[in-house]
Amino acid sequence: MVMVAPWALLALLALAWAQDSLLNICMDATHHKSRPGPEGLLYGQCVLWKDNACCTANTSEEAHRDQSYLYNFNWDHCGAMPPRCKRHFIQDTCLYECSPNLGPWIVQTDSSWRRERILHVPLCREDCEQWWEDCQDALTCKVNWHKGWNWTSGTNQCPQGAMCQKFKYVFPTAAALCEEIWSHSYRYSPARRGSGRCIQLWFDPVLGNPNVEVARFYASRAPRPAPPATLLLLLGLLVAPPVLFWG
Ligand SMILES: *[C@@H]1O[C@H](CO)[C@@H](O)[C@H](O)[C@H]1NC(C)=O
Ligand SMILES: *[C@@H]1O[C@H](CO)[C@@H](O)[C@H](O)[C@H]1NC(C)=O
Repeated sequence: MVMVAPWALLALLALAWAQDSLLNICMDATHHKSRPGPEGLLYGQCVLWKDNACCTANTSEEAHRDQSYLYNFNWDHCGAMPPRCKRHFIQDTCLYECSPNLGPWIVQTDSSWRRERILHVPLCREDCEQWWEDCQDALTCKVNWHKGWNWTSGTNQCPQGAMCQKFKYVFPTAAALCEEIWSHSYRYSPARRGSGRCIQLWFDPVLGNPNVEVARFYASRAPRPAPPATLLLLLGLLVAPPVLFWG
């Protein structure tokens, strides 16, 4: 008969806890809800997340506006961004604000406007390539859109000396666009849509949210965050008696 030591069972429980803590959560940022939940009135392109979202209806509507109150960010800093390009930025905002499946890539950050950010989210290659394809002739003056703007007018303007050029010259490849524009929030993944190994910016909500499975996959391989002190204490207490007995 195989005996399973109680501490081994508890260690497994602690592992499961650590993995679960990466699933179905919202990051601690500017507009996110503290916990995901249903949002019947999500707007436009954000509607994919209505069954379980980290964004409110208000945030989803603002995500579609130019210079919305969310971040006062101006997509049109080098002239009007064509709609076929802008829809990718709207979708990117929806994913960022609404997705409860980004847990494995949430990291702490010490910026003035958020305590947590996402880093290296593996974006499916087709989603990244379509984004680049549709934006290649749009104009911008910067590679990293997170910093270096002139904000004196209240919205982002190109800094002095930064010329407006086509995306395809600023970002020579799709990977350069997805990885560099938001300081590596995304990683260009060689995995394809539907593989269960990359996050989809776009999906058909009728078939369910494919990113749930992707988050579960990466959570099971993630380095574990430390379990809380109480759990460690409990573990210690339960491990102690046999140790004393054997000693
Ligand atoms: C969202 O909320 C903000 C702040 O309360 C408000 O200024 C804005 O008008 C709202 N937007 C929409 C689309 O309701
Ligand atoms: C920032 O923009 C303002 C106009 O909005 C301009 O007067 C100023 O020179 C700019 N500063 C830099 C450093 O580009």
